[in-house]
Amino acid sequence: MMQIPFARPYLTGDEGEAVAKVIASGWLSQGPQVAAFEAAFAKRVGAAEAVATTSCTTALQLALHVSGVGPGDEVILPSLSFIATANAVRHCGAQPVFADIDPRTYNLDPTSAALAITARTKVIMPVHQVGLPADMDPFLELAERHGLAIVEDAACAIGASYKGRPVGSLGPLTCFSLHPRKVITTGEGGMIAVQDPAVAERLRRLRQHGMSVSDLARHSTDKLVIETYPETGFNYRMTDMQAALGLCQLKVLDQVLDLRRRLAERYTAALERIPHLEAPYDPPYATRTWQSYCVRVGPRAPVGRTQLMQRLLADGIPTRRGVMAIHKENAYVGEAAGLPHTEAAATEVLMLPLFPDLSFEEQDFVINRLADHVVAQAA
Ligand SMILES: Cc1ncc(COP(=O)(O)O)c(C=O)c1O
Repeated sequence: MMQIPFARPYLTGDEGEAVAKVIASGWLSQGPQVAAFEAAFAKRVGAAEAVATTSCTTALQLALHVSGVGPGDEVILPSLSFIATANAVRHCGAQPVFADIDPRTYNLDPTSAALAITARTKVIMPVHQVGLPADMDPFLELAERHGLAIVEDAACAIGASYKGRPVGSLGPLTCFSLHPRKVITTGEGGMIAVQDPAVAERLRRLRQHGMSVSDLARHSTDKLVIETYPETGFNYRMTDMQAALGLCQLKVLDQVLDLRRRLAERYTAALERIPHLEAPYDPPYATRTWQSYCVRVGPRAPVGRTQLMQRLLADGIPTRRGVMAIHKENAYVGEAAGLPHTEAAATEVLMLPLFPDLSFEEQDFVINRLADHVVAQAA
């Protein structure tokens, strides 16, 4: 029986040598590779600067922190997101306020977000869910009108663009994930695209215990430097081994995006022939990354979403539920009600295997099993 992975990072074989070189150099953290990766990343996403962290979650926490978020503040975000989006708000001591999504894009709905604004709101946090850019213009206008900050959760969205502009160049602070299930990876890691160089400088201090001098600056001077700690910091440092891997991954990013798009288009063409299954909606303003491929199982389908996932698993095809509704998890239960589009999407959507070297043969097997389960049930 064919056994298909759900996701797999795209590695070319060059990474080992790049990482080994870093180890041989003896400079393992906060060194030249981290600086080079930050510069290359910033260039790729059209930001003035980029600041590397340990994950997207810690990137989000730092971005919220420099946006002034603290205890007593509220942050508006979609409940339909990975739970880390909300955890980052709580890690700042603030209150996540969940708004509903646009049922077609699964992204935060600007109208629902506007209704959630109170005197305590500090930040609106749109998520570019599974790599589809949120409709940013209404959020930027809303933030401007109400004097709020914007922090974007672009965990899955490196390489995506909105109205021709790359995600990372749209708002002041955009956070990316480099976890292996994302478009490109450093094993674990995150990056904040930053427009204001002064904010980037503060973020670099904050990720390094609040220390006034970076390791790179200290090593590149022969003058004695005694550092100070002007504010409470964190340890969210990326290593140079991770950064070397990240530089290799940036080189194949366009290839990864093309391979993912090609496979996504094949799924979409196939789904047109299978009743009850709905392919993702592609809004005209966005180019997405296809980090995941989401299928909606229609309410009148003869097989339910979860039952379908179970049957596919028995066929050797692992799937994942679609994006979760955070307010339905115990950690957040009771924090929101009346998010109908979020709740429907969380129960009706599943994700199919999609990764750059998924073969057409493997993909056809997924499509055929999917059709059999839905069509055979309907007959
Ligand atoms: C939307 C979103 N935000 C945040 C995260 C957290 O990323 P990391 O695991 O790098 O902290 C993820 C990861 O799945 C995500 O999908």
